Amino acid sequence: MNDKKRHTITAALPYANGPLHLGHIAGCYLPADIYSRYLKGKGKDVLFVCGSDEHGAAITLRAKKEDTTPQAIVDKNHTIIKKAFEDFGIEFDIYHRTSSKLHHETASEFFKTLYDKKAFKEETTNQFYDEENKQFLADRYIVGTCPNCDSPNAYGDQCEKCGSALSPSELINPKSTISGNKPILKETKHWFLKMDELTEDGWLNDWIETGKLDGVQQHDASKWRKQVIGQCKSWIDNGLLPRSITRDLDWGIKVPVEGGEGKVLYVWFDAPIGYISASKQWALDNNKNWEDYWKDEDTELVHFIGKDNIVFHAIIFPIILKTHGGYILPTNVPANEFLNLEGDKISTSRNWAVWLHEYLEDFPNKEDELRYVLTSIAPETKDSEFTWKDYQARVNNELVAILGNFINRSVVLTHKYYEGIVPPIESLTDYDNEIISKIKSTQLKVDELLSHFKFRDAQTEAMTLARLGNKYLADLEPWKLIKTDENRVKTIMNIALQISNALSIVFEPFLPNTCTKLKHILNNNAVEISAGHQINKAELLYQKIEDEAIETQIKKLKEKASPNPSEGRGKDGSNPKAKPMKDEITFDEFTKMDIRIGTILTAEKHPDADKLIKMTVDTGIDERTIVSGIAEHYKPEDIIGKQVSVLINLAPRKIRGIESQGMILMAENNEGNLAFVSPEKIIDNGGIIS
Ligand code: MF3
Ligand code: ZN
Repeated sequence: MNDKKRHTITAALPYANGPLHLGHIAGCYLPADIYSRYLKGKGKDVLFVCGSDEHGAAITLRAKKEDTTPQAIVDKNHTIIKKAFEDFGIEFDIYHRTSSKLHHETASEFFKTLYDKKAFKEETTNQFYDEENKQFLADRYIVGTCPNCDSPNAYGDQCEKCGSALSPSELINPKSTISGNKPILKETKHWFLKMDELTEDGWLNDWIETGKLDGVQQHDASKWRKQVIGQCKSWIDNGLLPRSITRDLDWGIKVPVEGGEGKVLYVWFDAPIGYISASKQWALDNNKNWEDYWKDEDTELVHFIGKDNIVFHAIIFPIILKTHGGYILPTNVPANEFLNLEGDKISTSRNWAVWLHEYLEDFPNKEDELRYVLTSIAPETKDSEFTWKDYQARVNNELVAILGNFINRSVVLTHKYYEGIVPPIESLTDYDNEIISKIKSTQLKVDELLSHFKFRDAQTEAMTLARLGNKYLADLEPWKLIKTDENRVKTIMNIALQISNALSIVFEPFLPNTCTKLKHILNNNAVEISAGHQINKAELLYQKIEDEAIETQIKKLKEKASPNPSEGRGKDGSNPKAKPMKDEITFDEFTKMDIRIGTILTAEKHPDADKLIKMTVDTGIDERTIVSGIAEHYKPEDIIGKQVSVLINLAPRKIRGIESQGMILMAENNEGNLAFVSPEKIIDNGGIIS
């Protein structure tokens, strides 16, 4: 399947409302770059595109906050992001932007074509409107009290306290976050992509499950990651609904049909089309035909993304492409899970992040070190974690001690004994033969793993060859043999240089700077290095990362995360981030609450809401159903059998169609992480909390 004639590789267009952090790199851009370099290294015809995602309400809101224009915001961020990619060595063939004229035209054309094909339905609904600012409010710009948990800070799309998904009309006391006023309801018309009708005949499901499109094998479904197929299946099984693809906003691509005045395309409608606009611009600049890369069945189309983008790339965009007609669909969507940082979720709003441009400043010429570590811990199948200590350990114990050390020894000894000329093989032992066959098998294995998007395993495999080389020299000790068996040393050094040369090839997609240096040292660009060849002097490939550098980073991260470091604790020792005390109540009021110890008997995901878990709880008095917004914090299977505190005399409430008979008490920290309030030792179910 990898033998298609051409390859179009896309990496999710980053939002131009902030810089890039390591989570973005590990999740999407680095694997995409490795894949592109891998294919280009094989001489394939590859187009690798990306660009800035410059529309959306988040950008207009930021402009308002900073008292500037959306264009100024995206101009600034586009420049920062583009430069960080270049400095880091993510080599796109083009880094485009969605505010460009070409993109506006391309996205407009898509909308009009789909409109003519009757892919949309128009619907007039009541939406919140801020009268003072004369604008409709995106869901995120409305706050109010959550109907489920009474939290006063719920957003129009979601309550972050209890996790329930909301629509703005469910909020009690809604307020505009822009003016602080109570918004009014006002009629507005929007266009909805008929995802239900457009997939009615089941093609989408078949395509995802079998890789077949209209009876033709289009891709190898066994190469798709399980999580990707799983997420798609769950969307499809829950029933796709018409999805609104226009917004009342003045920043974006104007809705190009009658009645569209004052409205723009929803950012998620236009952004993926940005891959096509970027390809068009690249074709113009390079005298190529963009259609070869988007319309020819002999082209492999791969979208690299993070897991939060799956539905857009594996469901919505394919529906758009297929409905438009003439386009190929993605061959694979290798989405990654998330990268955590030092024990916590990365959060841009809390500044809990390592920013790429800052890393590049603090660690000059250490791009490959970061590439190596991020690929080693790539969150391919589950969330993973970056810590500075681990970064240091991997650089020092692997890059310095194994790869760097092996190359250095091989090159230095060759100069010492043979004036830098590759010696001939005199005769081969079993050990030598084993190593020689390992060189070949490693190259094949790395190739195979990369073609299956298994970047982490592929890099491990490459490192195993370096490890083997190190062991080979340590086992045979040519520095001792040189006194007794000169011919043997010739063979050993020849093989050591062959390994070095193979490393300069297998590591190329992962560690491009290292390999450029290594090729220069070996003075060789060919797949083999032959006897009689003159190599150059050794150069240091890596340097140890000292404890101090790591401590500085950890300190910086922690200091920047809290807005004012001296404010960590107040004078009285209180935590300034803690919520103020609620109004005083009487003891009688307190005793009205019947809180008991209970045990969770069963737990499953709520069928219609990602954030909710439905449980049965043994309260000692009865077994009852309770729905709780903890699915982002706990897996159902992990909480069965847990003892928890339950408010049992809370009036039953319907949460997303299921009646919840009580509430499980949760403690929440400043970051919104939740923990059960559990008895310190086992207590019989029904035990009273007072
Ligand atoms: N800007 C989006 C994000 O960062 C990704 C857009 S991908 C595209 O999550 F396909 F829409 F471009
Ligand atoms: Zn809530």
